[in-house]
Amino acid sequence: MFHIYTLSPGEASEAQRDAMVRLVVAGGGIAEAAVRAGVPRAEALVLCIARGHVAGVAALKVPQPGYRAGLTSATKSGIALPPDRFPRELGYLAVEPALRRQGLGRILCTEALSLARGRGLFATTGLDVMRDHILPRLGFVAAGGIWQGQAEPVALMVRPGL
Ligand SMILES: CC(C)(COP(=O)(O)OP(=O)(O)OC[C@H]1O[C@@H](n2cnc3c(N)ncnc32)[C@H](O)[C@@H]1OP(=O)(O)O)[C@@H](O)C(=O)NCCC(=O)NCCS
Repeated sequence: MFHIYTLSPGEASEAQRDAMVRLVVAGGGIAEAAVRAGVPRAEALVLCIARGHVAGVAALKVPQPGYRAGLTSATKSGIALPPDRFPRELGYLAVEPALRRQGLGRILCTEALSLARGRGLFATTGLDVMRDHILPRLGFVAAGGIWQGQAEPVALMVRPGL
């Protein structure tokens, strides 16, 4: 039994934000400092609460200009990612290991997507399951080059606005 909640970072408790950071960092691929800085800046957080604790998370992120510029550089995707076409990022997705493969990841992404209300989105991922299953089914397509991330090759995926 679990519940999905959508909150602004300010509405989430410090303990919830902290649990979110730990879950995302444990998922791998993102440095803790970057997650700690990014969570309070997100437009919205999606939390799955199961048995009283945060068991899955996703966010509608507000990409900082420097981060966006880095993604578009020739050493990464090499494609333009204009803020007016892709104003938000779907990210900070993580499900605790015991609850994986039960559809939660897809539910969290779908919820974050609905919060975008038709605005263009992008996402980056180094995970085959995200690139090949979850994101394409939500309308994302791969864009630009693939680059080497902290642990594995990373791809940029985009979903144009409606
Ligand atoms: C990625 C992650 C969030 C997926 O969460 P999840 O709750 O297990 O995903 P779901 O159960 O909703 O699965 C969605 C789809 O992926 C497939 N899938 C999930 N994990 C899989 C795996 N390890 N191998 C193969 N397929 C997998 C499911 O079968 C399903 O596909 P289908 O709809 O075609 O049947 C989870 O594995 C995770 O937290 N990983 C670590 C953090 C991370 O890498 N986050 C991504 C950053 S972009």
